[in-house]
Amino acid sequence: MRVLLTGGAGYIGSHTALVLIERGHEVIVLDDFSNSSREAVRRISELSGVDVPVIELDLSDREAAQRALAEVDFDAVIHLAGLKAVGESVEQPTRYYRVNLDSTIALLDIMRERGITKFVFSSSATVYGDPIYVPIDEAHPAGVDLASPYGWSKFMNERIVHGAQTAWPELEAVVLRYFNPVGAHPSGRIGEDPSGIPNNLMPFITQVAVGKRERLSVFGDGYNTPDGTGVRDYIHVLDLAEGHVAALERIAPGVETYNLGSGIGSSVLDVVRAFEQASGQAIPYAVMPARAGDVAVLQADPGRANAELDWRTTRSLEEACRDSWNWQSQNPAGYHA
Ligand code: WQD
Repeated sequence: MRVLLTGGAGYIGSHTALVLIERGHEVIVLDDFSNSSREAVRRISELSGVDVPVIELDLSDREAAQRALAEVDFDAVIHLAGLKAVGESVEQPTRYYRVNLDSTIALLDIMRERGITKFVFSSSATVYGDPIYVPIDEAHPAGVDLASPYGWSKFMNERIVHGAQTAWPELEAVVLRYFNPVGAHPSGRIGEDPSGIPNNLMPFITQVAVGKRERLSVFGDGYNTPDGTGVRDYIHVLDLAEGHVAALERIAPGVETYNLGSGIGSSVLDVVRAFEQASGQAIPYAVMPARAGDVAVLQADPGRANAELDWRTTRSLEEACRDSWNWQSQNPAGYHA
């Protein structure tokens, strides 16, 4: 297929681009580079040996999107573009809703006008809120008391996809609810490159390891978990990328929703230990108060994706730590070396 990959220069997008190309698909990267780098696309081309075309565009600008895509030939869209910083979304709710909703709406309208029916949407386990049971399957309630405009924007986008499909039954859509992506391509050439102080655990740990930050703050050790620290389902970004390709290759009319996770829960201290083992670097840390909005445990039941997409994770947390460290140590300043 010829796949329009929005957000294709970002962390998840760059790995997805590579896996799509390896599986024989053609990729057109669409990105506004507001939180990503052209260097990532250059490295995708270098690793794959394929010159990847790039469209620089803010998709929430509907007219610009219509103009820019008018002459572009594609059969499917994987829509990863969006704003994704949870804390920032609390400060700038209208910006998050505008950008994250307008871009999906513009894309779906353009697809319908063009008769392009295949749509994969990047959602998040954050739509489950504070879970009432774990592991979380897709039948778990979603969109209840979400902690941030970011989370709501993901949930509203899911509703938009459902509404579009009701009105346009030919639409073939898959909603992928990601758990916590970590790791990098084993080459160390592409990886996660957050701007500013990392919000997420793994990039914070790798920046401590590379000497950029003094110590990790562990946000709370009083949760009802085996060691008191928060438990998450970490998924290697290449397993996640493969999940997108599996979804795309089995897409059918309707909307299907899948959790993409490993099914394994790891605490903050489990991740610290796994990283220390994989990298040989000590990670000093201090326990701090819990972070507002955090939940104790988020862990996937990935059974549905395993069965229906014939997909499962194959990479361990240890491999993810090794690959994250390989990326960070080879690129201490990310893409802006
Ligand atoms: C993981 C665990 C923290 C940083 C968020 C979004 C979610 C998704 C991924 C993305 C938690 C602890 C973290 C630190 C810590 N979205 N932690 N010290 O919060 O599960 O999910 O990112 O686009 O929607 O909510 O991920 O990596 O921030 O935290 O102790 O410096 O690590 O409390 O238990 P989270 P995370």
